[in-house]
Order: sequence, then structure tokens, then C-alpha cells
Amino acid sequence: MSLASVMRAEAALLVPTYDRYKVLLRKGRGVYLYDDAGHVYLDLLAGIGVNALGYGHPAIRKALVQQADKLIHVSNLFYHDYQSELARRLTRISGLERAFFCNSGTEAWEAALKFARAYARTHNQNGSQPPWRILALENSFHGRTFGALSTTATAKYREPFEPLVPGVRFVRANDVRDLERKFDASVCAVGFETIQGESGVRPITREFLQAARALTSRYGALLILDEIQCGLGRSGRWFAYQHHGVVPDMLTVAKPIAAGLPLGALLTTSAVARAIKPGMHGTTFGGGPLACAVAIAVIDTIQKEGWLEHVSKIGEYFRQQLLELQERHASILDVRGTGLMLAAELDSAELAKAVHLGMLKRHIILNRAHETVLRFLPPFIIQRKHVNHAIATLDAVLSSAEKSARAAVTSSVRSTS
Ligand SMILES: Cc1ncc(COP(=O)(O)O)c(C=O)c1O
Repeated sequence: MSLASVMRAEAALLVPTYDRYKVLLRKGRGVYLYDDAGHVYLDLLAGIGVNALGYGHPAIRKALVQQADKLIHVSNLFYHDYQSELARRLTRISGLERAFFCNSGTEAWEAALKFARAYARTHNQNGSQPPWRILALENSFHGRTFGALSTTATAKYREPFEPLVPGVRFVRANDVRDLERKFDASVCAVGFETIQGESGVRPITREFLQAARALTSRYGALLILDEIQCGLGRSGRWFAYQHHGVVPDMLTVAKPIAAGLPLGALLTTSAVARAIKPGMHGTTFGGGPLACAVAIAVIDTIQKEGWLEHVSKIGEYFRQQLLELQERHASILDVRGTGLMLAAELDSAELAKAVHLGMLKRHIILNRAHETVLRFLPPFIIQRKHVNHAIATLDAVLSSAEKSARAAVTSSVRSTS
């Protein structure tokens, strides 16, 4: 089908949850995507942080093909070879002890919220009512299901679906005093992204993380970190909290874990796991043999091929290039991020939109988060030549978009005077 006919068919048949770019993608190789007309795109978004090893990595293809041949799905009523093997790897790299597998990020977060409430019930030292409140952060994003949405601060995601799950309060990100003010014995968990992604790559400070760890430990509440976007190597370490010497009680991962197959995981301690009994929580598809076998290959390949070190180095190079670009463009207000989770905040939403579409026209894929922020989540395998090409293109696109923005301001001043 052509792009035009796919667009017509989708307009007639799909629920319009996405405003898609007018590109029909057919193939991926390495850091490149190819459309139906054979155009090549440099992918700096990686399926929103999913395709960490790029496209067509031989180790992933091998695991996928071999396992698809043997067994794709069995119910969670039976054992298969891969859940414990994957859990062994995830617990080793995270410092946690137990895993629950599901299908997506939002489901992993949902499990974390449910397990926090269950844990609070079994450790109730608060008279008749177990602690139930959950503290989340302003500017957070945890997914689209009701629990996840209840801890997601952004109004446009929440409001159409209210009322949401009760018991959630929002704290100002990186404001330790606000956290202390809102924390009391009714709180069963504090949960947030270690680097906030959808709100435009906003790292949580070491001071705030350590304060949240100390407060939750003191009160017997749980610290839940969402590393669905920033975890599994994107920050240059396996997990972003490892830059700060803190270990959470629960950790959610998803996006890159199974190279694009749907898989999420909630990692936790044995103490939390003891609050869950068979039948309390579950999933039909989560942790199936195909997704788990591929996830094992993803983790082993990141380790064996040394991608964490590469992410640190190339991420720092990319960040330095963005900082140099900022010196040439007053419209870049801020450059943020760690490893290959980077952002450039521009001075207006219109400019950010023009730049991000201008980059797409020149066949470079990135995205716009929180209206004004250009977000970069490239595959870990990106090299300096790709960064150089992206920066040179961004320089040109920014210059031309800034010129158009200035011309628009001048003509509107003329027409009103
Ligand atoms: C930090 C974070 N948490 C949760 C989610 C939800 O994950 P999913 O879309 O797999 O449900 C996302 C997705 O973008 C995310 O970035």
C-alpha cells in the first residue's frame, strides 16, 4: 500500500490516538530507517527509547528466530526456561532480588503501585488503616492505565479520564522541603522517574533521591523508581540511580528490554515479594518465552559488546556538541541529560515544532517533548559521524527556523503598527 492509501485506511478504521508523521516506514538497519520510497532516515529516537541495539542486530535476530521456532507463548501456569534466567540478569545488574514480568511500562508501574499497597497492608503499624498514600512528582509520566495515570501529573493526559485512583499527592520535583512537608505516616510509597522523560529530560537531583530514600526507609514506606525510559543502559550505567548511590525498593523497566517485543518488568526486594501471594496479580502474555529469550540476548549483548561505556562516551560527546550549538543559537535555552538521553530546550513551542519537522524533512528523526524541548534517545550504537551529521543539520535547520520566526514577528509588528 502507498502512504496515501495507508493514511486513508487508518483515518477510516483506527481510533485516532496518534497524530502520525507522514512517513511510511518499511525497514531498519543499524541506526537507519527506510521508508516506502527508499529514503534513509538517521534515527535519533529509537522508537522512543526502545531500539537500543538499533535495527537488525545479529544477536537479536538469532535469539528471535531460534526461539520463535521452538515456543512463542505458554501461560504463566507453566514453567519455561527463560523467566528465571532473565530475572537472574536483571537482579544482578539492578541490586534487587525479585522480578515480575508483564507486557509494557504502564503495567510494570501498575504492579509497583499495587505491590506498594499490598506491602503496606502486611506491615501495618498504623492502627486500623494501613498507609495508602502515594507521593508522585509534578511533571511525571508513568503510562496510560488508571493507576499510572493517577500518578502522572500532566493535565492533558489525566483530565479527560477523571476521576482517577484516589490517594495520590504530587510533590515539586527536586524540592526536598515539599517532599518532607507532604510526607507522613499515611504514605506507603514515593514513586518517580530517576530522569523525567516526557516532561523534557529533567534529571532528579542526587539530593532529592537521597532524601526520598532516607524518608521512605525511616517510615517503612517504599521508594519506587521508574526507569522505563532512562534505564537499562541509556544513562551510561545500567540504571540512572546507580550514578547516585541509592537503591530503590521497586524499579520498573520496559522499553529497550526485549528489542521491541512487548515486555516490562517490575524488580523488587524479597521483603516486598513476600506480600504477594499466588493469584493476587498476574498476566496472560507477560514474560512469555519469546520476549524473555530476546531480552536475555539484549542484556548479554549490551554487556558483551561494551555498550554502556560507549553510551557514556558518545553521550558526553553529543552533549558537548549540543552545548557548542547553544553558544551559536540564543534560541537554545538549555541542554540537559546524561548518556544518550539528551535534550535541547528551545525558547518557543513554535520554534521547537518547526525545527523538529525541519529535521524530519532532512531525514533525521527526533521528537518534541513538553512542547519546547527537542529530545534525543538514539540507539546505543550511534557513532561520532552520526552525531556530527545530526548537529550540522540541526545548526542549519535552527538558523532557517529562527530566521522565519524573526520574519513572522517583524511582519506582525508592521501589520499592527
Ligand atoms: C518513564 C515512563 N514510564 C512509563 C511509560 C509507559 O510505558 P508504556 O508506553 O510501555 O506503557 C513510559 C512511556 O513512555 C515512560 O517514558
